[in-house]
Amino acid sequence: MATYIHWQLESDAQGLLWLTLDKAGAGTNTLSGEVLEEFDKVLDAAAALAPKGMIIRSGKPSGFVAGADIEEFLQIKTGADALRMVRRGWDPFNKLAQLPFPTVALIDGFCMGGGLELALACRYRVAVDDPRTRMALPEVMLGIWPLMGGAMRLPRLVAPPQALDMMLTGRAVDARRARRLGLVDVAVPVRVAENAARMTALEPPQRRKLPFPASLMTLGMVRPLIAAMARKQVARRVRRDHYPAPYAILDAWSKYDGDPFRIPEGDPASIGALLASPTAANLIRIFFLQERLKGMGKETTFEARHVHVIGAGVMGGDIAAVCAMRGMTVTLQDQNAERLAPAMGRAQSLFKRRLRDRLRIRDATDRLIVDTAGGGARQADVVIEAIFENLEAKRALFAQLEKIVRPGAILASNTSSLKLADISANFANPARLVGIHFFNPVPQLQLVEIVSGEGTDPVIARQAAAFVRAIDKLPLPVKDSPGFLVNRVLGPYLQQALRMVDEGVAPETMDAAMVRFGMPMGPIELADVVGLDICMAVGRELGGDGAPPKRLDELVKSKQLGKKSGSGFYRWKEGKAQKGTAGPVDDALIERLIRPYLLEAQKAVAEGVVADADLADAGLIFGTGFAPFRGGPLHYLKAGT
Ligand code: NAI
Repeated sequence: MATYIHWQLESDAQGLLWLTLDKAGAGTNTLSGEVLEEFDKVLDAAAALAPKGMIIRSGKPSGFVAGADIEEFLQIKTGADALRMVRRGWDPFNKLAQLPFPTVALIDGFCMGGGLELALACRYRVAVDDPRTRMALPEVMLGIWPLMGGAMRLPRLVAPPQALDMMLTGRAVDARRARRLGLVDVAVPVRVAENAARMTALEPPQRRKLPFPASLMTLGMVRPLIAAMARKQVARRVRRDHYPAPYAILDAWSKYDGDPFRIPEGDPASIGALLASPTAANLIRIFFLQERLKGMGKETTFEARHVHVIGAGVMGGDIAAVCAMRGMTVTLQDQNAERLAPAMGRAQSLFKRRLRDRLRIRDATDRLIVDTAGGGARQADVVIEAIFENLEAKRALFAQLEKIVRPGAILASNTSSLKLADISANFANPARLVGIHFFNPVPQLQLVEIVSGEGTDPVIARQAAAFVRAIDKLPLPVKDSPGFLVNRVLGPYLQQALRMVDEGVAPETMDAAMVRFGMPMGPIELADVVGLDICMAVGRELGGDGAPPKRLDELVKSKQLGKKSGSGFYRWKEGKAQKGTAGPVDDALIERLIRPYLLEAQKAVAEGVVADADLADAGLIFGTGFAPFRGGPLHYLKAGT
């Protein structure tokens, strides 16, 4: 049999072909042009062998296929370039779909984008039932849509409303959900997966068909009705001028059955039109910024097996829970058992929500150990301090810790406002202290600032970044200066809005203005969510000039602290701000609100708080939700759109 660079084709004694993708020189399978070209040739060779069936699998332990090779997207300049690139997958996937013998995709681990489109072109899909197995069509997150057959095939296999939901949100499903949706034929434990794939190919079951009402929805006449319903939901979330891709997905499916080659040039659903708006380029930029953050800490082999967290409050409790959920042994220390109880309760609900499986919940629970005596600090690889924001208390605590921790352990503080150099002033070795600054709520927010003081050992900062990656968060290295990056930039932005309340601008109007700009929530709602006492403290600490905003001061004095106390600038009911009607929003208002944010971001870069402007954009997108389609605040300033 011919040999290939990225693929291996083998036949077995039962007359089956086993086709393995093991992309050369890469840890992960991606569908580069070269991989796809070779795939086309392999399919011809397979067809010539007329086997009983063929199973396609991955040779990488990391997963099936991560998707297209996004590096190659950078070469695309026009819609025609894009269609040429799409053709490289579209043609072989159609060829695969038409092979005259049963074909089975054996999916173990992630199966994303082009990888899922490949699997969809097989007659059957067998998935390994393991939390690592995740299937998604996340193209929408890059401002495009599944062009290599995904938008055509998924809604024929999975009921269109659910198929559209997957494409419109990019959300991943696990093997069990995929089984329930009909996306895979079987979900089996790893030890029987190969056999299940073999049996499916040798004794092919009836091909799954959409049940009756769902099958009607795929008809050309009915598709527009289904798309119109989905469009209403999309319109509630995003505007077409900000995010054209979800709208394009609906048009492409309802009018053109998901075939990119049937779409006339210039049609808003066409890939050319999507690439002509800056959104796709900006979202692709964000993808690479995220990859850059994901690469932080890669240089070290440091591995955190045991984490000791001191202070089981809002932050410490959740940091401990997230670490335990990610497989680390965690000891959680506080002054007494009563203080630990709420954190353990929150951890339970987090595990239930995120892990779902009974055994995995049990294992995570077992890994999280209460430790009032603080003995865990002696064995830990990472010790995180998250006690009250009080310099003397922190100093006293670290004086104890420094004596008992292992020599190679990381000593970290979650402080938001104290200088590392002050905390480590009495250390025997101040180079050991690093800031690992999480954001509240810890389980939801991806960004974590890795703070290096003047004395911090760079090796320790890199190890801290590796630890943050191991709990699947995004580390951003920052310099030890007031507010680091995120709070520093949010500070003047919130202050501006809070002062405008005193001028009589309605909170609803300001919030609407910033949502229009593309922020996930407006500044006044954000202040209520963060807590007005904290806004007040941050304002003071960042050197807010003179008296605090008047209305803010009144609210804090009357203990109306925002969401947590049930009222602040808004009244809060069932976790939602009760808002009145917003007044008219114009560009001048938007400009006035966002200007302080942009200027502060520029200043932070100029002062070297982060190493470069791209890192500031990454931090502010992932840390404050800055309008992703604009590509980051500094990019936005430069591009002027
Ligand atoms: P918190 O007040 O909710 O919890 C602090 C906990 O530490 C309490 O349970 C307390 O009993 C415990 N504690 C105090 N002294 C202790 C000691 N010597 N030994 C053991 N336990 C002790 O505080 P929160 O909000 O969790 O903040 C903790 C740290 O995280 C602070 O440095 C704060 O600046 C920082 N931070 C807070 C954020 C927030 O939004 N709350 C965001 C990011 C950082």
